[in-house]
Amino acid sequence: MEQPIGFFDSGVGGLTIWDAVNQLLPNESTVYLADSAHAPYGEKSPQQIVERSLAASKFLLDNHHCKLIVVACNTATTNAIQVLRETYSVPFIGIEPAVKPAALSTKTKSIGVLATKGTLTSALFQKTANQFARNNEIAVVEVIGEGLVKLIENPNRDSLALRTLLQQYIQPMQTAQVDFIVLGCTHYPIIKKEISDIAGEAIRILDSAQPVARQTKKIMRKFDLQRTTTGTPQHQFYSTGDPKAFNAIFKQLGRLEDPNAIAVNL
Ligand code: DGL
Repeated sequence: MEQPIGFFDSGVGGLTIWDAVNQLLPNESTVYLADSAHAPYGEKSPQQIVERSLAASKFLLDNHHCKLIVVACNTATTNAIQVLRETYSVPFIGIEPAVKPAALSTKTKSIGVLATKGTLTSALFQKTANQFARNNEIAVVEVIGEGLVKLIENPNRDSLALRTLLQQYIQPMQTAQVDFIVLGCTHYPIIKKEISDIAGEAIRILDSAQPVARQTKKIMRKFDLQRTTTGTPQHQFYSTGDPKAFNAIFKQLGRLEDPNAIAVNL
């Protein structure tokens, strides 16, 4: 199937997922929507998150006829994926904090989850945290990464402000002797180095990009959605915010090509 895979996030964070999917499925065309004008999603009400997720999906489906959508955002997945699946017929791949692998591997019986308020307060996240961790006597230290998304969305981010916030957020996890920190927001892998510098070597940092990429491949196979032609795949990027900021961050992630993001109003 020639049609592209669609991705959306509240901003540049989902590029960490886009990159993993692109590496695993290099023959696929993609369309990525950064809803940066409405970031952060994490501080919106569940109803507002559902509305933004519906608008983003409508854009990917009506304007680009995407064959599958990767919800490259934990906050949108945990609050809206059910509504998206009920509203549209294409497959939706969601992303949730990697609580299960952390809970299966912890030696200290204590794991940290850094995520948005929208994710941590969602019923889906609480269900997962209870099922895989708390019900097995594993403590879950939940910390809201307030302010981080705004800093990450800025290509000239203030590294001192970032470090100050991270110290404040990681300290309670260190006190609780976590041996894993789960990055429950797709923006956070962009600052993984800063996080691990503060957390130290004894704490492992987990994100969900690889499992999401594998799941996308599996669902593509299941529904026979793979692109079978071999011409160069096309990648299109849209931002409801400043496309220049998007392009700059894209390059900082180590990709050589210019994404030439296009401004869009949704
Ligand atoms: N990247 C997002 C996530 O995975 C959303 C962050 C936000 O906009 O608050 O949760």
